[in-house]
Amino acid sequence: MRHLIGIGDIDERTLPDLMSRAGLWKAWRSRGALEWSTEPLKGKLLITDFYEPSTRTRLSFEAAMSYLGGRVIGTENAAEFSSSKKGESVADNFRVISGYCDCIVGRFKNDGEAALAAVNSIVPLINGGDGQGEHPTQALIDYFTVTNHFNLGGELACADRTLRVTFLGDNKRSRTVKSLVRLLSKEPKVGYVSFISPPELAVENELLDELEDHGIMTTCRAHLHPNIIHGTDVLYVTRSQNERGDTVDAAEYALTPELADLMPDDAIIMHPLPRNLELPTSIDSNKRARYFEQAHNGLYVRMAILEWLLG
Ligand code: CP
Repeated sequence: MRHLIGIGDIDERTLPDLMSRAGLWKAWRSRGALEWSTEPLKGKLLITDFYEPSTRTRLSFEAAMSYLGGRVIGTENAAEFSSSKKGESVADNFRVISGYCDCIVGRFKNDGEAALAAVNSIVPLINGGDGQGEHPTQALIDYFTVTNHFNLGGELACADRTLRVTFLGDNKRSRTVKSLVRLLSKEPKVGYVSFISPPELAVENELLDELEDHGIMTTCRAHLHPNIIHGTDVLYVTRSQNERGDTVDAAEYALTPELADLMPDDAIIMHPLPRNLELPTSIDSNKRARYFEQAHNGLYVRMAILEWLLG
């Protein structure tokens, strides 16, 4: 039985399979959901068990399971409405509810709780984000968005270009940054990664080491200088995760329309959402903005993940 706890659970053969299957689902939906004639997960039941708030992860997983013909039950506020409120442990909770379903998506307050849940689960467990730990399904969505835009992989791969990815925001506490960096470190087309954040949100050395071990050059700065943005192909912006410690004012490092316009014409601006002041709505009309498409890609990538684990 497989679980998806961190990016390390996706091997080299699985990644292209997931990307290609997600691409297929995206193409099918663009032709209209009514044409869907297959329900590969008919008869299967997914539980969504979320101990922290979510819009995209929970609802796109629930939509994905429904489109695949399966059913969903769950709680959007397990911290309040499950028996954890009465002191039940994560281990006991997942030992019990895994007996009711075929797969579980969980979101957890603390790092490591997804792994603890998986050890106690008798069905596949998907980590929908654990504290400052990992958010592997978001990273797969981000990877799908980047590789589709730049035609990485497959016959159309642009052979003569390496990409520069710049992370702007909470590079310390953001689990989406952590998982995406781990995934990108294995992507041969990524040559350069920059981390821009106020000192309190600076990336930890462990992630820099992972990139450098794969031959990817890195830089860390406190401000988004024009010379960095000028060479950036993918700008990945994140909010300050103020619920996890010190509060940092996102306006301190906000992207401006003027800076966004310095990016190459075919560059993209991404954000896992939700956003705060770091990504003003004035950027939405910029041709490089891809964050709503990125969020919508969540449906297709999560359909592929559910098929992989349950098909
Ligand atoms: N990106 C993301 O995980 O969004 P939600 O917190 O809304 O699920």
